[in-house]
Amino acid sequence: MPYPTIRLRRNRQYDWLRSAVAETALAPADLIWPVFVHDHEVSLPVSSMPGVERLSIDGVVKAADEARQIGIPALALFPVVEPQHKSDDARHAYDVDNLVCRTVRAVRDQLGDAVGLICDVALDPYTSHGHDGLLKDGRIVNDETVAVLCRQAIALAEAGCHVVAPSDMMDGRVGAIRGALDAAGRQDVAILSYAAKYASAFYGPFRDALGSAASLGAADKKTYQMDPANTDEAIREVALDIDEGADMVMVKPALTSLDIIHRVKREFAVPTFAYQVSGEYAMIQAAAANGWIDGPKAALESLLVIKRAGADAILTYFAPDVMRLKDQP
Ligand code: PBG
Repeated sequence: MPYPTIRLRRNRQYDWLRSAVAETALAPADLIWPVFVHDHEVSLPVSSMPGVERLSIDGVVKAADEARQIGIPALALFPVVEPQHKSDDARHAYDVDNLVCRTVRAVRDQLGDAVGLICDVALDPYTSHGHDGLLKDGRIVNDETVAVLCRQAIALAEAGCHVVAPSDMMDGRVGAIRGALDAAGRQDVAILSYAAKYASAFYGPFRDALGSAASLGAADKKTYQMDPANTDEAIREVALDIDEGADMVMVKPALTSLDIIHRVKREFAVPTFAYQVSGEYAMIQAAAANGWIDGPKAALESLLVIKRAGADAILTYFAPDVMRLKDQP
């Protein structure tokens, strides 16, 4: 029974009706806040990510408390590692007194389990060459890297993080990390696997924030991160990680992977996270700063559609601000 009897515009007439029929809604509980921590007292802006700062440990404790008040469930921590702690073997990654471990202890001391702490497992902050894995004769060596990742995951678990998030894309690391955590008596620490992570130009500002861009130079991560051309391969990656014991899987970047988020959620029905990465954030902020788009509206729209695609939670640098913006007319 088509037009004129059916008029889809009828349901779009009023705010109350639009919200009553909305199929997707965004809440603070859907968002995870990625924060950069550095070993200095004063916070330092990230120039390619306007509005984002590298925080001191105290600053992260305050951020965690702010997250708790807003209702953001968790922070994802990324340490800015001083050059003297970078090496070819990334040994500082499993030093229990490294910056991220100290940060985890400080937040847990103040807030206990009120806010979740998610820690990246990957070697790029700690390698002198900026790769996520160990380099031998010009190649990233998988199994040797996985052994170091396991030690890193245990150090993070001992410090008190709730979730370890392998973002390195080595083969077999989820199973190996699960085994290592269990053997260390850390059965309760969950694994959020960066399962379908693409080799993307959109990570640029993140690498600026961490100072790993300079270490990486002209090199790329295409021998371990996925080719953006592929979708079936993403399904295989996710299937393997679930098999190996991942509690949650992630797709990244988000806006360039809405099809992947959708397929993963449909095919596996597991907790599916998406990462709205640094470049996605930077694009919106840059256009907004130029007056070319409405930044807050664009931020909210981008997050809403990532959720519509199937994401259960979204890592986003907009997390602390976006819910405040939502209330504005
Ligand atoms: C490190 C890591 C990266 C991001 C999260 N963890 C960068 C990379 O793989 O080069 C990107 C996050 C972002 O761009 O916001 N393995």
